[in-house]
Amino acid sequence: MRELNELKHLAIIMDGNGRWAQERGKQRVRGHEKGAETIREITMFCSKSDISFLTLYAFSTENWKRPKTEVDFLMRLLSDYLKKEAEVYLKNNIRFKAIGDLSRFSSRLLDEIETLTQKSASCSGLTQVLALNYGSKDEIIRATQKMIKAGVEVSEENLSRFLDTAFAPDVDMLVRTGGDYRLSNYLLWQSSYAELFFTPTLWPDFTAEELAIQIEEFKRRKRRFGGI
Ligand code: IPE
Ligand code: IPE
Ligand code: MG
Repeated sequence: MRELNELKHLAIIMDGNGRWAQERGKQRVRGHEKGAETIREITMFCSKSDISFLTLYAFSTENWKRPKTEVDFLMRLLSDYLKKEAEVYLKNNIRFKAIGDLSRFSSRLLDEIETLTQKSASCSGLTQVLALNYGSKDEIIRATQKMIKAGVEVSEENLSRFLDTAFAPDVDMLVRTGGDYRLSNYLLWQSSYAELFFTPTLWPDFTAEELAIQIEEFKRRKRRFGGI
């Protein structure tokens, strides 16, 4: 029998929060609030599975283009989430990490990110990664600059070592909710051989059950990595 695909690294583009709210005649930010609950559900599901890394796209380098009120709300939501979730991470042995250019965040938010990262550093279960002010192009440029500064040979291996995701293997499976068929500058290098899944389900409506069905399909797909 063919060996089933191993799913070590799952990446998700959590899209559709604004539309979820608008469909209900609510303000877009209500969708972000509901989306935070989905993060909780999906993280718990992954922490009970064999998945080692769950990387969630929470805020892109392009999302600063949004109205200031929405950006400010997202920053507050993130701050509340980091504080509230700390206990859940520790209780469930979940390690927290952030990727992206964090330098643009307030010092208070940076402190909160750092605190949770350190508190959960020795957790050995799932690693949950939040992509914050993350853009793949920005990450590759920052990694290239570091590689040049370190004076090492320009190679695929060295570039991978200088990416924000150096601690994780390449992405095996990438899910985008919200009905669009694009990567929006997310993990372009790391997803070069990822299996892609697109669902019309808006992120606040996404469930562990739907993810479980996608994972079943992932296991049935034949990954060839350029071979035959
Ligand atoms: C994704 O939902 C969350 C973030 C980008 C922060 P959106 O806010 O993009 O929701 P839609 O795509 O407008 O519905
Ligand atoms: C991608 O969603 C970014 C996040 C989910 C954080 P967007 O809503 O920003 O993507 P586009 O603009 O539709 O490509
Ligand atoms: Mg969107």
